[in-house]
Amino acid sequence: MAKVVVTRQLPAGPLDLLTDAGHEVLVRESTQPPSSTELQALVADADGLLCTLTERIDGALLNAAPRLRAIAVFAVGTDNVDLEATGARGIPVGNTPDVLTDATADLAMALLLATARRLPEAAANVTTGEWTTWEPLGFLGLELRGARLCVVGAGRIGRATGERAAAFGMQVDYVGRGDDLHAALARADVVSLHAPLTDQTHHLIDAAALAATKRGAILVNTSRGGLVDQVALAEALRSGHLAAAGLDVTDPEPLPATDPLLTAPNLLVLPHIGSATHAARERMAERAARNLLAGLAGEPMPWPVTASRAP
Ligand code: GLV
Repeated sequence: MAKVVVTRQLPAGPLDLLTDAGHEVLVRESTQPPSSTELQALVADADGLLCTLTERIDGALLNAAPRLRAIAVFAVGTDNVDLEATGARGIPVGNTPDVLTDATADLAMALLLATARRLPEAAANVTTGEWTTWEPLGFLGLELRGARLCVVGAGRIGRATGERAAAFGMQVDYVGRGDDLHAALARADVVSLHAPLTDQTHHLIDAAALAATKRGAILVNTSRGGLVDQVALAEALRSGHLAAAGLDVTDPEPLPATDPLLTAPNLLVLPHIGSATHAARERMAERAARNLLAGLAGEPMPWPVTASRAP
């Protein structure tokens, strides 16, 4: 029997896979992430850890967890895990790919549609009582058919977003490692980010990339906030160089309500809900539990993380 610590409340059903196998499962009953001190205390006698993307798994945490032999991340992105530190200790790490691809691609399209058709501004026009008439020149936005989408990161979620955009009649370019990002940005009416956060992708969309972007383009980000230099983004929105941005992810998370980015115009920010469908979260819990079961049994995890894995 092994002791498994689950850092947050999750869909509970799939955790039965662990208890049915005879493991003790301690679910930290909170909707908020633990502090690093609390997490260190929790893992002191844990054999398995099921964590979310909000927990930092680094050398200090692993030092506090001498028995730890398997980590399952309830997410596809694993930039919160120091994979060198886990690798050095021989601790396998698993994630939950595929089952959140559709949910996240749907949300990317929702942000694309909302920003292209200026939904936040239009909805505010109604609720503030400013709606006076049907306006021939009111709230004009981007028509998707024939517009060009640049998908940055041609992994599963990027491709699923591209397929959805193509169904709306958009022309889709995929940009991967080694491609000319700035040239692709210059052609695009909408740019959607789907690359993992790494040292190479941190601030991939910086002031220079934004300057290279076509005037009037829209930026959508459902990957990680760290891909975008938010100071440069705010400036690009304020100057009107970008028409709009739709972000499901920010840096930091949560983004303080006082962050200057939030005063930029034509910006829609969501609280990182890309995989937040009932189906995706249930299947993510199942994949995380199966990864732990295998790792604790000394078998290969079904969904292992390697340092080069893209979402
Ligand atoms: C969500 O952002 C995930 O990586 O699963």
